[in-house]
Amino acid sequence: MDGNGRWATAQGKPRSEGHIAGAATVRRITEAAREEGIRYLTLYAFSSENWNRPTEEVNMLMSLLVQHLSSELSLLLKHGIRLRTIGNIETLSDYALAALNDTLEKTAHCENMDLVLALSYGSRDEITRAVRLIAATDIKDITEKTISEHLDTSFMPDPDLLIRTSGEQRLSNFLLWQMAYTEFYISPILWPDFSKEDFRNALSDYAKRNRRYGNI
Ligand code: IPE
Ligand code: MG
Repeated sequence: MDGNGRWATAQGKPRSEGHIAGAATVRRITEAAREEGIRYLTLYAFSSENWNRPTEEVNMLMSLLVQHLSSELSLLLKHGIRLRTIGNIETLSDYALAALNDTLEKTAHCENMDLVLALSYGSRDEITRAVRLIAATDIKDITEKTISEHLDTSFMPDPDLLIRTSGEQRLSNFLLWQMAYTEFYISPILWPDFSKEDFRNALSDYAKRNRRYGNI
């Protein structure tokens, strides 16, 4: 979800306005994904590197998260959407973590769709934590499956499609291990402007791809 800041700046507004508009896009695209029968939607909401932003912006993003966790809960429950997280969420503030844990628990029984928020997420950090976990076990025969099972994403399949908004062409430390065979779709549209139609266009583009997984 990239481009909130540029969207705001282009309109002469503070960056926070971009994040507020971006949060509305989260609701819209989650709805579109549900309508299209997407089983797992993962949103890169806050990276481990985003902690380096000015404190004011970090605090604003955290309070936006807490606000939306509470305002969206009834909709999640209504549609059977389970909230999940990946990332080092222990680094979140106590109040954000409490709100998060509350929503995680209340939606734990939902089975239609998983909405996965990457929070304080960095792929290298995730892999490092997984290696530490494995090293603390007595597992001797370490396979690719062992590694996958110790990543934060152990509960879900590798992503089929990555959509990156705002035209940036990089992974930015997102799901490096999991995206070995993921299809990429780069959209020039800034996240606050990303519409349901844009999302469906990405899906139809994906549907035309020929995935060979290294085969012919
Ligand atoms: C993405 O928008 C939202 C978050 C990282 C939370 P940015 O804030 O990165 O927007 P730009 O890249 O400055 O336009
Ligand atoms: Mg950005």
